[in-house]
Parts: sequence; structure tokens; C-alpha cells
Amino acid sequence: MPLVMTASQVLATAHPNIALVKYWGKRDTTLNTPAVSSLSITLDTLQVSTRAVFGDGDALTINGSSEPRATARAIACLDAYRAETGVASRPIVADSDVNFPVAAGLASSAAGFAALVIAADALYGGLLPTPELARLAGQASGSAARSLFGGFVHLAAPTRDGQPIDVREVVPADAWPLEVVIAVTATGPKAVGSTQGMELTRTTAPFYPSWVDAQPADIESALAAITVQDFARLADVAEHSCLKMHAVAMAAQPGLVYWNGATVEALHTVRALRRSGTPVFFTIDAGPQVKAICEPGSSDAVAAALADVPGVIDVLRCGLGPGALAGPC
Ligand code: DP6
Repeated sequence: MPLVMTASQVLATAHPNIALVKYWGKRDTTLNTPAVSSLSITLDTLQVSTRAVFGDGDALTINGSSEPRATARAIACLDAYRAETGVASRPIVADSDVNFPVAAGLASSAAGFAALVIAADALYGGLLPTPELARLAGQASGSAARSLFGGFVHLAAPTRDGQPIDVREVVPADAWPLEVVIAVTATGPKAVGSTQGMELTRTTAPFYPSWVDAQPADIESALAAITVQDFARLADVAEHSCLKMHAVAMAAQPGLVYWNGATVEALHTVRALRRSGTPVFFTIDAGPQVKAICEPGSSDAVAAALADVPGVIDVLRCGLGPGALAGPC
């Protein structure tokens, strides 16, 4: 029988994750299940810390402020947890601190929802196993399901209606400690969020079915590359997945262009580094930041080169990190 831990205040931490094989498009918009499987790395250093207590009404602050849309999404996520477990609807007050730019293409919502579900579970007494918490986080934001786990994470999309996602760690962080350099090319929230962007893509982009059909081959190739630590193969499949995701988004009507000039310059810089022998590849999410993934020991050169790209405002560095954790505080 599971040990039921109860605490009156809990602290949860979760890290953003970066997809190397991208999720873009939904199978079911009500349950928020993805149309494609994805494969990601969970980061360290960048972190959401959420302190949660019972209160008179569900509430959320992010870095000290409350924002109605974020609060509504958090309450929907807490309601889903309570419906799933049948736990009495005792409200939760959650205060999150985010140590990196929010809603700017750095997966703050993934880390935020991962921290929220794990905080709620700790507060309510640890009622659900991690795969179930991942499913609930994924219902709130698809990529959040992956931040429950550390290292390299595979999210298998449903293959039939009503089937849940299946998320698991495939290789732990310390088995292949890749390094990540993030070139920040703009601050402030992106113009079109992922949810809206992927629905527009699904409903208007003529290449969308091809994007979905090609995903299993990319997942298989990336999993094989990770298993044998074949960096060159992982680089090829990850850049291919990233460029295809942006290509299909650009083919939506109206077309979605998440990049700015510095994004393109940074992308070329990463490719030039790789041509000259530095083991690095890029990936870009629904925003203008460029994430450079490096083999262990290569990130100093990459960080220096990206800092020199005109338009790069800041360079953040991290390694691979653990899944979300919560405990009493
Ligand atoms: C480009 O998980 O933010 O980062 O499920 O609508 O909340 P929703 O979308 P979200 O989308 C992430 C898209 C991506 C690629 C990825 O992380 O796989």
C-alpha cells in the first residue's frame, strides 16, 4: 500500500524541457492529446519553484503577480486532478517563482504545469503515480507531460481515440550529459502561442498530414541515436524535425513565422560550428530563441560564438536535469 504523506505546505520544482523531435498538432483538442509522439531533454538550472498550501479558493501567482488566463488554466488543471482522484475539492493557493523569461519560447508553461500537478499531488497526499501526473500535466499543456521526467524523455502519442499518452524517461541525464546553450534573441511573450499556432497549422497547412505521417520515422531514428549516443545522427534528425515543424507552421494561413533575423543568424552560426568540427546542433520552438545542443565539453566555444551573433541579447547555459520533484516545506 502506498505511503500517504500529508503536509500543510509543499514545495515543488520542475524544469523546462526542449523537444528534439517536436510535438506540433493535436489529435483531440478536448483532452489535449498530441497527434504526434515527441522526444525531449529536460534541463537543469532553468527552474520553476512552486509553493502550495490549502486556501479559501484556488489561486496562482507567477513571480508575485496573478494573471487571469494563467489562473484559469491552473484551476482547470487542479479540477482535473480532483476529478481523477475523487479527492474533496479543497482549494489550493500556489505561488510560482520562475528564474527565466516567461512565455518566450523557453517552455515556462511546461515546467509550470509539471510543478503544479506534482505540488497538488504532494499536498493531497500523493495519490497518483508519476505517469498519471504526466497525463494530467499534458492535458494542461502537451509538452508539460515530459517535464515530469528527467534526462531524455519519450512521449508516445495515442494511436487510437481515447487512448492516453505514454511518457517515460528513456535515458537518464547523467548517462549522456549533453550541454545546452540558449541564444535569447527577443524578450517578451510570443505573438501566437503554441496552442493557437498548432491548431491553425492543423486546420490550414496543406503539408500537415505529411508532417504527422513522417513523425514515427524521426522518433525511431532519434531513439536509436540516443541509445548508442550517436551525436551526428541525433543532430541530423533533430534539425530535420525542427525545420519541418517551422516549415509546416509557415505553411499555415496566415503563415506563422516565429523567427527574427538573429534567429536565422544563430542557426547559421551553429551549422558553421558543426562544419568546422564542433559537435553542436540547433533546435527552435514556437519563439525566436535558438537552443544549441552540444556534446559534453563543447559548450564554451558555442556560447562564445552565439554571444557574438548580432541581435543575440543573452546566452543561457544549462545541462540535463531531473524530473519534477515535490516535498513538504
Ligand atoms: C514548439 O505544449 O506549449 O514547444 O499543448 O497547446 O499547451 P499545448 O502546446 P505546448 O507546445 C509545445 C510546442 C513546441 C514543441 C515541443 O515542445 O514539442
